[in-house]
Amino acid sequence: MKILVVGGGGREHAMVWKIAQSPRKPQIFCAPGNAGIEGLATCVPITADDIEGLKAFALKEQIDLTVVGPEAPLALGIADEFRKARLKIFGPTKAAARLESSKSFSKDIMAANRIPTAAARSFEHMDQALAYLDEQPVPIVVKADGLAQGKGVVVATTREEAKQAVRDAMEKSLFGQAGHRVLIEEFLDGEELTLMAFTDGKTVVPMVPAQDHKRVGDGDSGPNTGGMGAYAPAPIATAALREQVTRQVLQPTVDALARLGCPFQGVLYAGLMVVKGTPYVLEFNARMGDPETEVVLPLLKTDLVEVMEAVVEHRLDELTVEWHPETAVCVVMTSPGYPGSYPTGLPIQGLPAPSGESRVAVFHAGTKRESGRVVTAGGRVLAVTAWGPSLLDARAQVYQAVPSILFEGRHYRTDIAHRALPHKI
Ligand code: AMP
Ligand code: GLY
Repeated sequence: MKILVVGGGGREHAMVWKIAQSPRKPQIFCAPGNAGIEGLATCVPITADDIEGLKAFALKEQIDLTVVGPEAPLALGIADEFRKARLKIFGPTKAAARLESSKSFSKDIMAANRIPTAAARSFEHMDQALAYLDEQPVPIVVKADGLAQGKGVVVATTREEAKQAVRDAMEKSLFGQAGHRVLIEEFLDGEELTLMAFTDGKTVVPMVPAQDHKRVGDGDSGPNTGGMGAYAPAPIATAALREQVTRQVLQPTVDALARLGCPFQGVLYAGLMVVKGTPYVLEFNARMGDPETEVVLPLLKTDLVEVMEAVVEHRLDELTVEWHPETAVCVVMTSPGYPGSYPTGLPIQGLPAPSGESRVAVFHAGTKRESGRVVTAGGRVLAVTAWGPSLLDARAQVYQAVPSILFEGRHYRTDIAHRALPHKI
């Protein structure tokens, strides 16, 4: 069996790593991959948004299953193109991926289906957005409507900051086309939670709940990033809360898209804010989260290839998806300056040799090989994950592994999973 994974970050490394453990022993390709993925898959120099190039490769190599990691190719319609060419692909169509690629589309779906979410208004004209802000209380949240790599959201504590965020998006085009429409959203004060689910368009199978850490600094300080670390399962997501989110959020969303004629197939990601025990949707993503994938997949007991095939073949209802009763913690190591501008090409030292026995995995997020050395090639460089019987055990292991990995100006948070510590899991 031949599998192609599209993407080259920490999420895709974790996917390739998990697929490599399949008893089906698939031959794995990854486009474009990175210096860590190289050891497990054949990396092919095709970028994740080169849909024609990827399709030509999949046809030539007779790929049995293509798995899409990032949102960009989904928003460009990779799943539509592959299906037209009779290639099996794990990931939603362009129409279904609008849940992520257009925040106003996802708000409309939620409003029409009474899915609990933060109240919001969408604006195409800057003057109207600025005038609206004059009447709103702070804090308030300003979001670029389109895809902005997790950086298009500003939680403003003053009106001036909110207005600046509107101007940055609409006037200065800080997020390009993605920010020409903005959403101004009510601020919700609570605890964040990620619940992802496999879905074949009908059946919804939730994964273990995870918690991401979006802010760059310890104590949740500084600007938002793509994600600085994660852990799973998150104790805030009791069995009852998971059931509630599945019933009130995930299933109705999947059903709504099916009714609209654009069934969602792949992974539906709900980013939630839990306010006094009640979950509200902050965002949907049309793919697995990064770094949530790096903590969720190590806990998956069922063969990932089986699950993905069941999704693609619309028979997820026939499968029981099982999880290891363990906890995983991931710490992301970033380049100096991230999420602002940062240098690349910095040599990385102290990377441990990958080992099947170890309960620590160093997933590469932004790396490449240059004259035989592994160097930094992105803002998020490595996603170091450990798992074990308890949160304390996994956390101790991950923070033992991280300090010995060195590159100039490296940054990481030292408090990943702090919210779970009082739960003593
Ligand atoms: P999003 O990309 O929409 O998930 O937003 C990025 C981050 O901004 C979230 O993970 C939250 O930390 C924060 N955020 C987004 N929307 C809200 C909101 N309505 N209230 C409070 N914080 C929010
Ligand atoms: N960790 C947040 C995301 O993947 O969008």
